[in-house]
Amino acid sequence: MVIPMRLAEPSHVQSKIPTDLEHLRKLFIMPDSPDRFMQFGYELLDLIHSFFKEKGGIHSEISLPQLACLFNAIDIPKEPKLLKDILAEVKQKVIKHSVKVGNPYYIGHMTSAIPYFMILLEMIIAALNQNQVKIETAKASTFVEREFISWIHRLIFCKSASFYKRNIQNHRIALGNVTLDGTLANLTAMLVARNKAFPADERFPGIRKAGVAETFRYYAIHKAVFIVSQRGHYSIDKVARITGIGDNNVIKIPVDSNNKIDINALKKVLKEISEYNSSHHDTIKVISLIGIAGTTETGNIDDLMALRKIADEYNIFFHVDAAWGGSVLLVNKYRDLFRGIEKADSVTFDAHKLLYSPLSMGLILFKNPYDLLNIMHTSDYIIRPDSVDQGRFTVEGSRPFSCLKPWVTLKIFGTTGFEVLFDHAFMLTSTLKDVISKHENFELLNSPELFITNYRFVPENIQNKINRIYEQLSNADQQKATRLQKRLKKLNDGINEMNIELHRAIRQEDNSFVSRTMLESTRYRGQKIVVLRAITINPLTTPAILQEIIDEHNKLSLTIYHDFKNRLFHI
Ligand SMILES: Cc1ncc(COP(=O)(O)O)c(C=O)c1O
Repeated sequence: MVIPMRLAEPSHVQSKIPTDLEHLRKLFIMPDSPDRFMQFGYELLDLIHSFFKEKGGIHSEISLPQLACLFNAIDIPKEPKLLKDILAEVKQKVIKHSVKVGNPYYIGHMTSAIPYFMILLEMIIAALNQNQVKIETAKASTFVEREFISWIHRLIFCKSASFYKRNIQNHRIALGNVTLDGTLANLTAMLVARNKAFPADERFPGIRKAGVAETFRYYAIHKAVFIVSQRGHYSIDKVARITGIGDNNVIKIPVDSNNKIDINALKKVLKEISEYNSSHHDTIKVISLIGIAGTTETGNIDDLMALRKIADEYNIFFHVDAAWGGSVLLVNKYRDLFRGIEKADSVTFDAHKLLYSPLSMGLILFKNPYDLLNIMHTSDYIIRPDSVDQGRFTVEGSRPFSCLKPWVTLKIFGTTGFEVLFDHAFMLTSTLKDVISKHENFELLNSPELFITNYRFVPENIQNKINRIYEQLSNADQQKATRLQKRLKKLNDGINEMNIELHRAIRQEDNSFVSRTMLESTRYRGQKIVVLRAITINPLTTPAILQEIIDEHNKLSLTIYHDFKNRLFHI
């Protein structure tokens, strides 16, 4: 029977702790004895449990400057302290002031509740401390990782059973990599695409060896570009910087009213590039066309079929960023939303989003099992060419055994369990959409596909004013139309300010949380609109909670409107 220890408040007067090797060794094996290890483990779980049981605010009340004061020691601690004291400090200073992202009223980001067994799995991961870079430090876990990668590869690309039987543990190739996160997955895909775009030949060693400058000279390249929609995640810009492409060469195609890439605008850009290339010696090389399956701000999915067709026409590498939406493929009845994903050259997928794993783990999958050879690297002391080391294919060096978490989750929930979770998330999204659409003081601003809803507060009488402007616009001459557009813009400026204020008030009240962004793609084209962004994926959130959240937003909004009315809406 293990008796839990009570963590003391951190004491200021502390007994002298031995610094001899014998004492430190005990810490490395287990604190003092196996019993103490179990006692601390139990206490730690109790500590975590009380964090979850605690009612009240999502964010602690402490201000950011006050928080900075808690962590302003400039000296590295010199004298050892007792584990129990430090755990007490962690409880007081860290856990107490952490964000309750699993709270069912927290619907603002892609991080939500996680299954409790994840905490136990994290303990296994830490205890085993496997380094996935090489088999010498990751024996069974290397094979688990390959099995997991193969499952997700099959989920996306649906190749034959014999393909997977042949390749699941074929160490000569890699179907994909487990990465630190979605950003690193996108980076890996774009490195492969870039290296494939500028390969070696008998006179040239390829971009990996030659570098960007020499490659551009050799291939007579004016510039190399990535193409993605305006809804592309900012990681694509980062990747452009890292790969030597540059921010300015990420071409952002406008989106339609559903936040999907505008196919006609894309075709126009590609035609212009083609025309440029046929009339210039130095050409523009499109390294990759990137589709999105679950846009970060709005949760929409590009027309992946159309993108594949266009990529084929221009012979471009086609990548799909499914960091957000990819997991929904686990449920067959939703597969149609992603039509064409199986034709992508590579796909990014995040486990810490809709696989409900704790942070962080991304995945990059390649349809062609030889593609990752384009970034293969070896070394004399590990990741030797003939080894089975996963590190031969990854951008990262040392990597944790993070895939244990989604691998176990898929076994515990099964695809049937995920169907229940995603059905619930779809139901919540549709409930929220209804609540907002029917509410006289709120305006729905997107067509939610994958659990993300954009909306804003607009009091009924201002909505009426806007509707009247639209009616007048339908038969206004040029001069009048300009005047009306100006009025509309002024109204929207005021509404933007009010919604920023509302977002502040929601944070202040701290009973719920939604996030905020700005979109240029709403029905008010030409003007950026401040929108609130709700992400409804938490299995603990209910329709009644959503109603409560909107009711509270409404109450806060009306107070704000009262203050803004005279200043902003005398139009
Ligand atoms: C579509 C999309 N791609 C990429 C990323 C980056 O993922 P990560 O934060 O795991 O690096 C995100 C994150 O929200 C995303 O929504």
